[in-house]
Amino acid sequence: MSLEPVDIGLLGLGTVGGGVVHVLARNAREIARRAGREIRLLRAAARDPAKRRAEYPGLTIDGDPFAVVDDPRVAVVVELIGGLEPARELVLRAIANGKHVVTANKALIAQHGNEIFAAAEARGVTVAFEAAVGGGIPIIKAIREGLAANHIEWLAGIINGTTNFVLSRMRERGESFAAALAEAQALGYAEADPTFDIEGVDAAHKLTILASIAFGVPLRFDRVYTEGVAQITEDDLRYAETLGYRIKHLGFARRGPDGVEMRVHPALIPDRCLLANVDGVMNAVLVKADAVGTTLYYGPGAGALPTASAVVADLIDVVRSLTTDPTNRVPHLAFQPSAIDDAPALDIDAVETAYYLRLSAEDRPGVLAAITQILGAEEISIEAVIQKEPPAGAARVSVILLTHRVREARMRRALSAIEALDGVHGPATRIRVETLA
Ligand code: HSE
Repeated sequence: MSLEPVDIGLLGLGTVGGGVVHVLARNAREIARRAGREIRLLRAAARDPAKRRAEYPGLTIDGDPFAVVDDPRVAVVVELIGGLEPARELVLRAIANGKHVVTANKALIAQHGNEIFAAAEARGVTVAFEAAVGGGIPIIKAIREGLAANHIEWLAGIINGTTNFVLSRMRERGESFAAALAEAQALGYAEADPTFDIEGVDAAHKLTILASIAFGVPLRFDRVYTEGVAQITEDDLRYAETLGYRIKHLGFARRGPDGVEMRVHPALIPDRCLLANVDGVMNAVLVKADAVGTTLYYGPGAGALPTASAVVADLIDVVRSLTTDPTNRVPHLAFQPSAIDDAPALDIDAVETAYYLRLSAEDRPGVLAAITQILGAEEISIEAVIQKEPPAGAARVSVILLTHRVREARMRRALSAIEALDGVHGPATRIRVETLA
């Protein structure tokens, strides 16, 4: 190697940080052969430096991440501490210091990416974020570079490993939600605050990023319609199977003539679809583009080594581009900054999908008729109905309805009327159905 080694500084030695140290050491020779020069981990910062020094003997570890960001010898800062602050301040300071940044922080990119990329472009440095979406799947590179010839129409993906793991365990092994979540946490898949996974916030962060690079629109996390998986019961998983579907937590983005649709929520998808068979911590993203057609990207969506794989690939990319003209690098959001298009983000009320409904109803004449009458009045057509025999002595039954496609606003109106019926108890469970056709 003729070029000098590149020194990097690592912020965070948790699950992913540990994976990065491991991969950099394990594959040092191949990484150098690919990058054209050695990538040296000069120093790191961790919240508990004494503990980490014992785990990583020989590595200089500070408690203060700003010491790393301000070290003039560090050419690339790898930010793996997560969260919004101080990550935002550290990344902006690294950029101001003329350093390139590699980050796995989807919250930071989704919520502050517009500001961060503008600062990076002004300073002529790169902020790379492959690990922010889909764990080890090179989905950012695939959309931003591999599909650069295409007009992308829509994408749909399982983009949270924790919820996919939980739903898979519940369906396959009959595990409780809480037990499956505890397992996902122990395996290092969940966010520091697992409600981000469960409530769909993590998937919304990732969908924000995917929509931007697919359609060339600004990052607009606040415009993503977000639902989590807490309402899904083992009964729903079973009923969905009876109807020929699987329930997955899905991110969906589509560009239409009126604007961009961005939503994350549980969805029934036909069980013959490849996406329906993506289980455990695996993620997959289906992209529909005009020239290539439909392509699918599949792989581990979380975990130390898969995420480190994406972080180190970014590092290699950044190191390779150190000698290129800063105005001629791959744009952060796939499209040139001056060509980002401010297409409106659509409101969920305007979105049209089919629905799975589960109602707790009294088992007496007229109740089902009253329900179907309300749906009919909103022009909601029913595709299938299941009514389970009530357990001995019980007066209430579960009624499951599958509807044809309808606008969200109409379904919301119909459900308020149904929930107000005498013979219907408690809130209805409503899960969207996506055929992904
Ligand atoms: N908590 C995230 C997940 C980690 O479960 O997908 C990877 O981004």
